[in-house]
Amino acid sequence: MNFKKPSDKEVVVIGLGYVGLTLSAFMSDLGMNVLGIEIRESVIAKLQTMKAFFFEPGLDELLERTINDGSFRFQSKLEKSNSERIFIITVGTPIDAKKKIRADSIIRVAEQLVAVINEGDLVILRSTVKLNTTRQLIQPILEKSGKNFYIAFCPERTLEGAALSELGVLPQIVGGVNDESTRLAAEFFSKITSTVVKVSNSETAELIKLVDNMQRDVRFAVANEVADICNSEHIKATEVISAGKLGYPRTNLPLPGPVGGPCLEKDSYILAESLLNKEKTPLIALSARKVNENMIASIAEFLAKWFKMKHLESRPLKISILGIAFKGIPETNDLRGTPALNLLSDLKQVMPLFTEFRLWDPVVTKSEAALEGFEFQDELSETIYNSDCIILANNHPKISDLSLNQISKFAIGNVLVYDIWSRHDNVTQFPSNLKYVSWGSHQVSELRV
Ligand SMILES: NC(=O)c1ccc[n+]([C@@H]2O[C@H](COP(=O)([O-])OP(=O)(O)OC[C@H]3O[C@@H](n4cnc5c(N)ncnc54)[C@H](O)[C@@H]3O)[C@@H](O)[C@H]2O)c1
Repeated sequence: MNFKKPSDKEVVVIGLGYVGLTLSAFMSDLGMNVLGIEIRESVIAKLQTMKAFFFEPGLDELLERTINDGSFRFQSKLEKSNSERIFIITVGTPIDAKKKIRADSIIRVAEQLVAVINEGDLVILRSTVKLNTTRQLIQPILEKSGKNFYIAFCPERTLEGAALSELGVLPQIVGGVNDESTRLAAEFFSKITSTVVKVSNSETAELIKLVDNMQRDVRFAVANEVADICNSEHIKATEVISAGKLGYPRTNLPLPGPVGGPCLEKDSYILAESLLNKEKTPLIALSARKVNENMIASIAEFLAKWFKMKHLESRPLKISILGIAFKGIPETNDLRGTPALNLLSDLKQVMPLFTEFRLWDPVVTKSEAALEGFEFQDELSETIYNSDCIILANNHPKISDLSLNQISKFAIGNVLVYDIWSRHDNVTQFPSNLKYVSWGSHQVSELRV
């Protein structure tokens, strides 16, 4: 790639989470002078050991290199400077229990910037936000500084687990509140990525980010709706989808599967909230969200019915859930919005007698899980041993590679394998102690019992 000469200006990244830390390390490695600001002491403490607090392939190596050579520095407070700077805001914008966006972190950052911003500084908002946030919420706060500054919205669109390989190649959307802001932000990103897409304004850039995630959620929801239809028919969803698109150029549905993570679980709600004052409702986006959320409750209900039917609800059962991170490909240890833990909580509600739940993940460590209040097993074999039910929850290759024969041997007694990713749908012969059910073929599997 042919990047322009890196900026000499200091780039200040505010919020060193999944997005901010990865971007900071990437930019520092290009030769930029990056200062990271992070309020969480635990994140700073981890960085002092030159490591990230989360797993992202290649990130620890990059941190070690850039912290050692001084191109990436970090501290907990924003401070004044005599020079012009570029600020990138990457703090979290989660939703609350009522599915409303929490903008408190971006507002707090904007208020902190008022005291330190200089004439000519460029502020880039990168956190996912409600429509109009850049111009109507953040810009007015920054104007209290009395300084002339530039401001643009430039969304983060990388995939967790592949962020470092995507940052330099994904097209970067850039939309400023005015032409000069767009121009300056585009010039900045042209030093980072090979393609910069300048759009009309910050609102267009904000909407592009929300629409990107909404359409991904909708595609998965269509597949999950097919799966739910097939659950009540004697038809396999995987076959309907795979055979239906084979050599047929007008269908490209993904296979059904759980949808989660810190972005898809919230971004359609942020889109809907953006339109409230226009009295518009994004019907497809919200229905898709419901379909993807309901899937987990349907699985919990199916399992509760299953064990009731087998008269096993009168004794405590052992349920093992394998693959707890919100996805297995690309691998991550991110537990935010993870379907597996939502399923765990639903199962606890519908099957209160299932007293023993065992959790295992190929990437998430026991200590990381403990921080989130979950008890994990170290060993896969120890997790599965003597289980009544094993749920294959995410699509990590180490879980996909497990054969049903291996599982049956580890399990010892009779076991029900519930595969949320329908990996073994084509298997016709099962070990005698194992029953197999998958999302999208509940009825078909019943026939095989
Ligand atoms: N995770 C992803 O892959 C991804 C992808 C695209 C977009 N996004 C969006 O990017 C934003 C950030 O996501 P994330 O996953 O990195 O969130 P995160 O919660 O992992 O990181 C945010 C960090 O900001 C810190 N912070 C909060 N207030 C601060 C302040 N005043 N000063 C300094 N630090 C502060 C927090 O302590 C935290 O470490 C969100 O809006 C998210 O929706 C995330």
